[in-house]
Amino acid sequence: MPDLSTTYLGLALKNPLVPSATPLSRSLDRVLNLEDAGAAAIVMHSLFEEDVRNDERMIDRFLVNPDAFGEAAGHLPGSSGYRSRLDEYLEQIASLKSRLAIPVIASLNGASMGGWVELGRELQGAGADALELNAWYLASDPRLSSDALEEHYIALLQQLKAAVDLPVCMKLSPFFSALPNFVHRAEAAGAAGVALFNRFFQPDIDIGSLEVVDRTQFSSSADALLAMRWIAILRGGTGLTLAATGGVHRPADALKMLLAGADVVHMASALLQRGPRALAEVLAGVTRWMEEREYESVAQLKGSLSQHNAPDPSAFARAAYLNALDSFTPPAGVRY
Ligand SMILES: Cc1cc2nc3c(=O)[nH]c(=O)nc-3n(C[C@H](O)[C@H](O)[C@H](O)COP(=O)(O)O)c2cc1C
Repeated sequence: MPDLSTTYLGLALKNPLVPSATPLSRSLDRVLNLEDAGAAAIVMHSLFEEDVRNDERMIDRFLVNPDAFGEAAGHLPGSSGYRSRLDEYLEQIASLKSRLAIPVIASLNGASMGGWVELGRELQGAGADALELNAWYLASDPRLSSDALEEHYIALLQQLKAAVDLPVCMKLSPFFSALPNFVHRAEAAGAAGVALFNRFFQPDIDIGSLEVVDRTQFSSSADALLAMRWIAILRGGTGLTLAATGGVHRPADALKMLLAGADVVHMASALLQRGPRALAEVLAGVTRWMEEREYESVAQLKGSLSQHNAPDPSAFARAAYLNALDSFTPPAGVRY
């Protein structure tokens, strides 16, 4: 049996498979099932800035200033009955920590400055082992430069780091013009790791109703290649621990992420679509593959095909794109 252990955000994990943020962590039973299936840690669903702000409004409205709202205030829960999203989140951390043997990583999701991120201190107090900061802002204003936005993300990270002693991971979007530079700055600002990449729900257009609609969209294994390439490029150039998130459904997807240099491999869509057995199957498949190839440990495997270690480093660069275009052959039977 190979040694599957790995280290992520300074946490010693029994293997590299970690469910990433999904609504599954709202249920203690579901997380216990994931732990039974072999999960080495759990990233909780996010506490969203919007929820925190809504809580603030509610508290101000009905608890601090009830008289200002006249009769309407009478229909609201009394001061002892109001449970904010933050309260619920803190209770869930404490509940998970009391029952799980694996580390619990809490997640903060939002982008603006202004104090909400300092709630990280409360997540720490509730027992979280580490924090994930998912800061993404849709930069649709042409006056906002990428430089200003990146500065903002770094300032947010610094604000969170000033509030907590816990290791902090930044979950990043794939939409950076110069990702290694940003990762370097995040490292200098005190991040312990990065998770690549956040996957966005894309609004869709229903051509029947002519409405813009939101639908849950799941990934496929093809999506894993995006994070795999950037992990391969970053490994060796940063001291941060690296999580690969996006498109891990099968053992081969997880193995590619590890060979590229990931310290942990996240799963979300596969767990939502197939349940905890998806994780158990990936874990069993990774172990079997390592045994067949006589790998002794994940440490030995990790990063062995990163850009730094690959026999042909240009395979991760632009040259690969040109080769792929050149090597296209029409499928049999298709007439152009
Ligand atoms: C239904 C659903 C809910 C999610 N909720 C969160 C969340 O609360 N916070 C977050 O950072 N990511 C969230 N994600 C993103 C996942 O954690 C993951 O990074 C992304 O789906 C890519 O992994 P996958 O290809 O395995 O799905 C969510 C994804 C899905 C499908």
